[in-house]
Amino acid sequence: MTVNNIVSERQYRLSQRLAQLEPSATASMSGKVAQLRAQGINVISFSIGEPDFDTPAPIKAAAVAALERNHTHYTPTGGIADLRRAVAQRASSDNGVDYTINQVTVTTGAKEALYFAFQALCDAGDEVIIPTPYWVSYVEQVRLAGAKPVLIQTTEATGFKITADQLAVHLTPRTRAVILNSPSNPTGAVYSAEELRAIADVLRDTDVIVISDEIYDAICYVDYARWLRVAPEFADRTLVINGASKAYAMTGWRIGYVAGPGPILEAIKAIQSHSTTHPASIAQYAALVAFSPSEEIDQSVAAMAKAFHARRDLILSILATIPGVAYTVPDGAFYVFPNVSGLLNRPLADGVTCATCQDLMNYLLDRAHIGVVSGDAFGAPGYLRLSYATGNDDIVEGMRRFADAVRLS
Ligand SMILES: Cc1ncc(COP(=O)(O)O)c(C=O)c1O
Repeated sequence: MTVNNIVSERQYRLSQRLAQLEPSATASMSGKVAQLRAQGINVISFSIGEPDFDTPAPIKAAAVAALERNHTHYTPTGGIADLRRAVAQRASSDNGVDYTINQVTVTTGAKEALYFAFQALCDAGDEVIIPTPYWVSYVEQVRLAGAKPVLIQTTEATGFKITADQLAVHLTPRTRAVILNSPSNPTGAVYSAEELRAIADVLRDTDVIVISDEIYDAICYVDYARWLRVAPEFADRTLVINGASKAYAMTGWRIGYVAGPGPILEAIKAIQSHSTTHPASIAQYAALVAFSPSEEIDQSVAAMAKAFHARRDLILSILATIPGVAYTVPDGAFYVFPNVSGLLNRPLADGVTCATCQDLMNYLLDRAHIGVVSGDAFGAPGYLRLSYATGNDDIVEGMRRFADAVRLS
């Protein structure tokens, strides 16, 4: 029997949990870009969520050495002790909290750390507050845990940041957790110490858990205010999420971590012990070098952040010249999130009209061969997300194509 026969003959009953699940829009755009490239079309992608740099050499060398030493077997749940120690030290010095090795676990990317966190914390009917625009997986992961995503819509007016007043209005007795993601994907927004303090004050008399996703902390163009540095009294109800993907250009190695109170970490490790157990052993040895203090690696990270800063300025300087596009200056991560509502419902180049950002995204891919992601995927219709984790020449050529395609006619 061929696979096609199986598909056509049988009705599959999938779990009800999946009924509302949306596949990742960013992954879908990457797939479309790859398809066009396979046809020999020169596509410039602004849709990727990963640094285009190589992983720093000492990290790669550690992986090779681990392989040669045959570190190819299972490790303890949540990683080898040396790595968990390095992560505990890193999380402690970042956050000003003394995490022990039992208060961290190393996961298969920060994405898995978040997934485990929602599974550990949420029951059916619980609510998780998600500042919007949001990173695509928060909503789906919260739903997969049976909980209800509560979206707080933000706009340019507050720099795409939730205010303390907005948060106060959305808290209910069912609120289980609030996600903070600074710097933010997709907006690049970075919360100031004052803004975090105001949020802490609103949460003070609740028992809401804060999930602070700090995966872009190394790519920040203003002074970085870290949640637990501003609100240390929240150490016993904060889960810090971080990892190697963005800071060390290690997306493919799949190394993330979560640090937090012991009982929650015990629960997370119990889930981990019945799912992936630990990230790949070789990747763990590489991450051990990434997370251990090293001037050489610090310099690589700083050089990458500097390059992203220059690219941000470059892409903004071009966006500023395109009629119908407005933007807020992002203070971190490697995304710009322009408001393109001025381009909708009016004839663009060749008289084409786009009613939605989804249409605009498809039009840009088909006509200009550039990949962008529609704001709808992040809960923000009227916007596009452009990643500038791509070389300067591609930024210039890609934005030339963009400007040409959206020229108002
Ligand atoms: C805000 C945010 N959190 C978490 C992740 C997950 O990162 P990882 O590659 O470590 O799973 C991403 C990846 O794009 C992200 O943008």
